[in-house]
Amino acid sequence: MSKSRVKFSNVAFENTPSEEAVSGFYDGMRKFWHPVLRRSDLPETKPLSVELLGTGIVLAKLDGRIRAFRDVCRHFQARLSLGEIVDIDGAQSLQCPYHGWAYGSDGRCVRIPQLPPGRRIPPSACVPSYQVQEKYGLIWVCLQDDPLFDIPDYPEWDDLSFRTVSINEEEPTQTSSIRMIMGTLDDTHFPWVHEGILGERDQPAPPDHKVWRDNRYLVMQYEIEQPPNYSTTDVSQRSQDDSGWVKNNYTDYVGMPNVIRLVKDNDNGRYVIWLATCPNRFNKTTNFWAFSRNFNLDPDQDKAYEDIATLVRAQDKPIIESQRPWIIPPFWSGIEMPLGPGDTPLIEYQKWLEELEISVNV
Ligand code: FES
Ligand SMILES: [Fe+2]
Repeated sequence: MSKSRVKFSNVAFENTPSEEAVSGFYDGMRKFWHPVLRRSDLPETKPLSVELLGTGIVLAKLDGRIRAFRDVCRHFQARLSLGEIVDIDGAQSLQCPYHGWAYGSDGRCVRIPQLPPGRRIPPSACVPSYQVQEKYGLIWVCLQDDPLFDIPDYPEWDDLSFRTVSINEEEPTQTSSIRMIMGTLDDTHFPWVHEGILGERDQPAPPDHKVWRDNRYLVMQYEIEQPPNYSTTDVSQRSQDDSGWVKNNYTDYVGMPNVIRLVKDNDNGRYVIWLATCPNRFNKTTNFWAFSRNFNLDPDQDKAYEDIATLVRAQDKPIIESQRPWIIPPFWSGIEMPLGPGDTPLIEYQKWLEELEISVNV
């Protein structure tokens, strides 16, 4: 299709994007770090399978270090994640369950039980291995050797003046990672989807956004008044009868393209919502959430914060899952109709996605 602007069409609402669109999206996303699993969910002595950008990945801790390989044996393509960790000549290896080929920490085959005596293991007997990092309680993988950006910062995670609770959603969300970030960056939906919690419908006017790029972050800032509750203020400091709204200063940092950190500041302190998304597929996303606060630090209070966060996420889920196309189209397609100035943050995010070649024509 040419880059001439096309009008709204039913094409946008087809449920399945073309294979070309899906592989274009995966190619665009390969160059970033993605969280794939909570560190605590990886067994110490067994491999585990995860899915990233439509690719099966096996994670295994070999000699104390987490390794990530393509979850496909080089021999007859059985899943290595069904295998086991074994010791070969003093080093731990991942052994395929089918015929026992074993792979060392760099993905090279180190043992073929059927190899005739005197024959060398073929150099091509190896599986692709990927870079791995452990950070913020998560295992991160990059499918490309040279990630474009570092893992985005979450300074409150290690800050002892904050209390942090983290939640891993049990069920993946049926949407793209990009739509999850957009749904978290979007504030004009607050009065509609989160009525009574983050806004009210009789006050739909969007706040005045400032948006800019800072290194690998898209930063957005605005001031907003919101109803008082656990997600907007320190309720422990308020009297029960005080229903006056709270002024919050939001600074949202999108760690391009798949992580977002919402920092809410008010007179009581700072409340941070952090979301790291794993694009399992173009329409399946695993969300890792964490929440940090530097007030009302009593651990007994955690549940109240978790409950309201769970409610807000449950309100968003059906809306975000309903959006089509799953893969974000480029602006020139005219499929979406963002409206300035309220949608400026989303427009700026999408512009950057286009530059990063993540948005593709569906
Ligand atoms: S398929 Fe893995 S060893 Fe044969
Ligand atoms: Fe929302």
